[in-house]
Amino acid sequence: MIILGIETSCDETAAAVVEYDGGFVIKSNTVASQIEEQRLYGGVVPEIASRRHCENISAVTRDALDTAGVAMRDIDVVAVTAYPGLIGALLVGVNFAKGLAYAHDKPLVPVHHIHGHIAAAYTLENSPLLPFYALAVSGGHSHIISVEDFTKFTVVGCTSDDAAGECFDKAARAMGLPYPGGVSIDKTASAWCAENPNSPWARMDCKHVSTDKINLPFPKGKGKYDFSFSGLKTAVLNHVNNSRQKGIDVDVGELCAALRHTIAVYLTEKFVSAAVGAGVKNIAMVGGVAANSHIREVLAKSATDAGLMLHIPPLSLCGDNAAMIAVQGYYNFKAGAVADLSLNAKATHAI
Ligand code: KG4
Ligand code: ZN
Repeated sequence: MIILGIETSCDETAAAVVEYDGGFVIKSNTVASQIEEQRLYGGVVPEIASRRHCENISAVTRDALDTAGVAMRDIDVVAVTAYPGLIGALLVGVNFAKGLAYAHDKPLVPVHHIHGHIAAAYTLENSPLLPFYALAVSGGHSHIISVEDFTKFTVVGCTSDDAAGECFDKAARAMGLPYPGGVSIDKTASAWCAENPNSPWARMDCKHVSTDKINLPFPKGKGKYDFSFSGLKTAVLNHVNNSRQKGIDVDVGELCAALRHTIAVYLTEKFVSAAVGAGVKNIAMVGGVAANSHIREVLAKSATDAGLMLHIPPLSLCGDNAAMIAVQGYYNFKAGAVADLSLNAKATHAI
């Protein structure tokens, strides 16, 4: 079966062709990123995102088909991100997919963006065995999800305010680092840690630390497995503002390393204890924040110590892409979740 995936939920216009033949083969995975332009504004401007999707979607889809060496007649299913995301951005992908499906008489399959992020893990050679726990961490989500089946999900914990990616992005902005903040903070922190290998912020074990200089709070969250990132974000903003008021230079490298380590420990502690508590053996970390080099290392060490098998997609499948949408589209199609042409996009949608 050959699936065409389409993704336009935020600032990436993406199309991909994925073949399933007992395993998933990504034939093409085209992504047109708006990062350079959105950087000028320090974040995503929804109106600009929608306009760029309109301009790019045809060429991106053409490229995905050509790179895969297929034509629309070879496609069995058109899968599209229908929710959640920026509504104007989603509408471009959904309506384009509807047009394609109608014109070529193909089944149209809506996909939840976060289900798609989780499905990125199924492309791994050693993919997670069901049931497993997923930590979905992106610009809009920080969720611990129990994946009981390919189309059956239960939310175990989530953030009650900002998402982890949002915290990275807003903290970076306060420190004067470019969008997307998660990437900038990761790079700046790695450079600082390379020069300060004995700093507590450079440690790979899952331990919450503070120093005389930087003491970031460890937010509790509403429930045992819930997160809250707004206090952490505010602490970084306060650190920057207080230092400026006192005329002290902010050590941006150290602050990045401190924030990165605190978020790594926070996510890891809750996620691993939730998985161990549930008795699952397989876990996966997915979403844009899963690209973070330090979070990957801290979680990997903690998972090994707890006897858990950790699965993390390659960097190319952590950020938004359409291959993950095509993979989840395969399972949704198998489960009979085919939409008619009244399909609409939704800005929010339960997992
Ligand atoms: O999944 P994604 O590409 O889009 C959403 O669904 O939101 O995630 C984007 C988020 C942004 O907040 C970005 O700063 C963050 O992922 N991100 C990172 C890294 N790369 C991207 N956060 C931390 N470390 C990274 N290396
Ligand atoms: Zn995403």
